[in-house]
Amino acid sequence: MVKAVVAGASGGIGQPLSLLLKLSPYIDELALYDVVNSPGVAADLSHISTKAKVTGYLPADDGLKAALTGADVVVIPAGIPRKPGMTRDDLFNINAGIVRDLITGIALYSPSAFILIISNPVNSTVPIAAEVLKKHGVFDPKKLFGVTTLDVVRSETFTATVVGKPDPSVFKIPVVGGHSGDTIVPLLSLSEPKVEISDSDRDALVHRIQFGGDEVVQAKEGKGSATLSMAHAGFRFVDSILKAVAGETGVVENTFVYLSGIPGGDTVKSITPGLDFFSVPVELGPSGAVKVINVLSQVSDYEKGLLEVAYTGLAANIKKGVDFIVGAP
Ligand code: NAI
Repeated sequence: MVKAVVAGASGGIGQPLSLLLKLSPYIDELALYDVVNSPGVAADLSHISTKAKVTGYLPADDGLKAALTGADVVVIPAGIPRKPGMTRDDLFNINAGIVRDLITGIALYSPSAFILIISNPVNSTVPIAAEVLKKHGVFDPKKLFGVTTLDVVRSETFTATVVGKPDPSVFKIPVVGGHSGDTIVPLLSLSEPKVEISDSDRDALVHRIQFGGDEVVQAKEGKGSATLSMAHAGFRFVDSILKAVAGETGVVENTFVYLSGIPGGDTVKSITPGLDFFSVPVELGPSGAVKVINVLSQVSDYEKGLLEVAYTGLAANIKKGVDFIVGAP
């Protein structure tokens, strides 16, 4: 029996993500938690004729505890999204506290669940989550994931457009680093199938993958950021985890993880300037991350330059997240 929880289920991402999860053959129970409207979203989804039993919870009456108890997977898209002109870091002041409180609930009520963090800034919210879990003595790095799948999805789509392939899903492109602007490093030199593009096309493609989120923020004119493509990406990641839990082998997703806690992670950490968290291709198994796949030693000189820029931004973002918890009383 698999119980999945969406925290932030009534939002722009939360609703379509919950819809996709309701359609999953792997999920038996789907608990929707939000500070508003979650019973309504749950009632709506509960009419769909798939097996997952859907329930909705608000904070009143210990709703967070009821939602989380018995959870196997918790996905967190709670918090405010960007408006035009904002960076993901501008969301820190509000979303850091939201993530801290939800993770505290997980530490208390479902400490062995897989935790998938969508809330931005991911580069900081995942370190926040790790520190909260450490404080409660329940941190399992193999089960804490920052969801950077949308960067992978964008790189597949935009690369297919540049090289004129009709089906983007044929591409496998590692995207490493973090999840904001120039901390996002697509490794086009390792694309499968291989892509032949000019240096100027490559530069434009890398920039579009790094800043693709801005296209959506601008097009929505103040009404939010990516929601539908993010719901797809979040679902893809949950689906991969549940496939691995069900025994499928060779399941790999790029995700922002605590490197030292996963076999192979220290090798990558030693290539970065000692960063604790990094997005890397990770092989998944029944109990979470099985190993970090080191792609950093194969990158091109051009990509080494991109990585140097990413390291600096990431170090600051990670420190900000850690300090938010470690510096707190
Ligand atoms: P939204 O504003 O539409 O939805 C957020 C939901 O969170 C709302 O329903 C709100 O009531 C709920 N919420 C707020 N505080 C809460 C709490 N304490 N507990 C539970 N729920 C709470 O925002 P949207 O567009 O769904 O984005 C959510 C987050 O996802 C944002 O931080 C956004 O930046 C991030 N995001 C991350 C991406 C990624 O690739 N990781 C891509 C796109 C967005």
